[in-house]
Amino acid sequence: MKILLFGGNGQIGHELQRTLAPFGRIVAPSRSEADLTEAGNLQAMLQTQAPDIIVNAAAYTAVDPAESNETTAFAVNATAVETMARYARYNGSLLVHYSTDYVFDGTQSAAYTELDAPNPLNAYGRTKLAGELALQQGGCHALTFRTSWVFSSHGRNFIRTILKLARERETIDVVSDQIGAPTSAELVADVTALALAAFHADALPEGLYHLTASGSTSWYGLACYVVQQAQAHGATMKLGLDGIRAVRSTDYRRDRPGTATRPRNSRLDCSKLTEKLGLALPHWKVHVDRMLAQIDYGNEG
Ligand SMILES: NC(=O)c1ccc[n+]([C@@H]2O[C@H](COP(=O)([O-])OP(=O)(O)OC[C@H]3O[C@@H](n4cnc5c(N)ncnc54)[C@H](OP(=O)(O)O)[C@@H]3O)[C@@H](O)[C@H]2O)c1
Repeated sequence: MKILLFGGNGQIGHELQRTLAPFGRIVAPSRSEADLTEAGNLQAMLQTQAPDIIVNAAAYTAVDPAESNETTAFAVNATAVETMARYARYNGSLLVHYSTDYVFDGTQSAAYTELDAPNPLNAYGRTKLAGELALQQGGCHALTFRTSWVFSSHGRNFIRTILKLARERETIDVVSDQIGAPTSAELVADVTALALAAFHADALPEGLYHLTASGSTSWYGLACYVVQQAQAHGATMKLGLDGIRAVRSTDYRRDRPGTATRPRNSRLDCSKLTEKLGLALPHWKVHVDRMLAQIDYGNEG
């Protein structure tokens, strides 16, 4: 089986290179080898590689910059997905794709299911939703996983930003009225592999699935947990728990023009996937603890 993996150097893509290896040969072109903003380039890559499975872990994921770069974000998050879906349909490939909690507006109090209506609040969410729709309309065999608040020891994410700021500053402002489930790239990649095996065994229908860690917290709650645990591991930091100030998102955005609006409730109900796979998704602290335990605090630059 040949797997063409886009975004192999991103947080989830990096982990997929590990978890998808038992399924066959993985070809993971870099951005310079397959720039998804260039449709012709992408089409040529698909024709040349002729994959059995296309795994799209590439995306324009910079939420605030997307506000002023929506055209580029759309090219990567929607137009490229349409091209992949078209190829997959006419060549019988399976397309594995990722999307986001930011397709929702966060106004409902319960966790969102796959049946809830999306209504994105920001440019990133709009382009990711357009990608989901392009994939659905493409009519190919596909598995789409919506996840949230992704972190890993590889790449850019909230936890690594907090650890950096904690070394540099005595106080930081963190939003306390947005809640979600911090989800490790490791978990997403592990469950993707289990889902792929179940799909091939006809035990998992194609379609859209929510996939996050269990439990939830706010960005403020996560920042406090990270600082507390890093302190317990002996990290030297200027920031203490009392230096982390909880702020409302409206106040945070007012002080920082250009910040995108984000959903207050980002919680995704994952029961459709867990029931089909017979899994219990671990609490978000499990993988946060794992990441924080692996850091060499003496050498963090
Ligand atoms: N990060 C989150 O918090 C989060 C939350 C919910 C859902 N998701 C979704 O999960 C998926 C993976 O996210 P992630 O956090 O692993 O992303 P990431 O770490 O930001 O990695 C994105 C990958 O996409 C590649 N990429 C970006 N623009 C490209 C272009 N024009 N052409 C080719 N490749 C391009 C990047 O290439 P380079 O390596 O060259 O930069 C990188 O490898 C995405 O679909 C994202 O929407 C993420």
